[in-house]
Amino acid sequence: MRSLLFVPADSARKLEKGLQSGADALILDLEDSVAADAKPKAREMAAAFLRETRALPSAPRLIVRVNALDTGLTEADLDAVVREKPHAIMLPKACGGPDVQHIGIKIAVREAENDIEDGAIRILPIVTETARAMFELASYRGASHRLMAMTWGAEDLATDIGAETNRLDHGDYTPPFALARNLMLFAAASAGVDAIDTIFANFRDSSTLQRECIAARRDGFAGKMAIHPDQVAIINEVFSPAPEEIANAQKIVAAFATNPQAGVLAIDGAMIDRPHLVKAQRLLARAGL
Ligand code: COA
Ligand code: MG
Repeated sequence: MRSLLFVPADSARKLEKGLQSGADALILDLEDSVAADAKPKAREMAAAFLRETRALPSAPRLIVRVNALDTGLTEADLDAVVREKPHAIMLPKACGGPDVQHIGIKIAVREAENDIEDGAIRILPIVTETARAMFELASYRGASHRLMAMTWGAEDLATDIGAETNRLDHGDYTPPFALARNLMLFAAASAGVDAIDTIFANFRDSSTLQRECIAARRDGFAGKMAIHPDQVAIINEVFSPAPEEIANAQKIVAAFATNPQAGVLAIDGAMIDRPHLVKAQRLLARAGL
């Protein structure tokens, strides 16, 4: 999943536009982009959208961001949407593996009530939104078979630690937020799931977005979240492997397939061993090949 576009679930206009955006996934938001009074309406609209859209042949993956576990709103959010079988539930303000297990149980109950296969609905936690969460990053490993990927957030974390800003003038993250990003990347790899980069809020600044996407892909992220349809094409482009990268990966996989006993091989004058094979396999898997 390269691009995941946030869509406030109480906006019919944006839901419609989201479908045309080309995003690999839409995140129907019931949390921060929806005012308290609009939550019931947003739940209904998210459920209706899931029902109508799921069956479309080229529908993107549909993920619902529910409200955090300590808000008292999560149960009603799940009651409204689980029966419509979203691909995943995004859990904001997640504080470690136990929170994933906690919401996993709530999802499991509703899957059972609605004749949905156990474990069908995955979980995508946002794992760096509080200072406390930073100390729980290692606990996602082995926490749940529902864990789909992990992502991080810099806005709520800034509020939690009292930071005046999370970016330097030229757009790079300040050290505390670069640390959050980087630790989250290790946490996702340790848990064996994809790392998804956080949003870039200045949606008119496509050059900084592109720079951030290139850096994210370089460091191992599989994709990036978006807040505006204009960001989707840039994200998709950067996170799509180029044809020559695909050809190269296929060459490596083929070389090991024809030499299953080999630990190391030479291809085009370069040494290729197991880490290269794993990398090539991952690139092909992410390209859907
Ligand atoms: N999903 C789908 N469509 C969107 C969209 C989104 N996230 N953001 C904007 N659009 C649509 C607008 O409705 C508009 O369509 P229209 O002109 O046909 O009505 C078009 O894209 C262009 O939008 P634009 O005028 O450039 O921006 P805006 O001022 O309408 O919206 C935001 C700006 C930031 C309010 C909007 O992008 C948004 O709501 N983003 C998501 C916020 C969110 O979910 N935050 C939580 C996660 S951090
Ligand atoms: Mg938030």
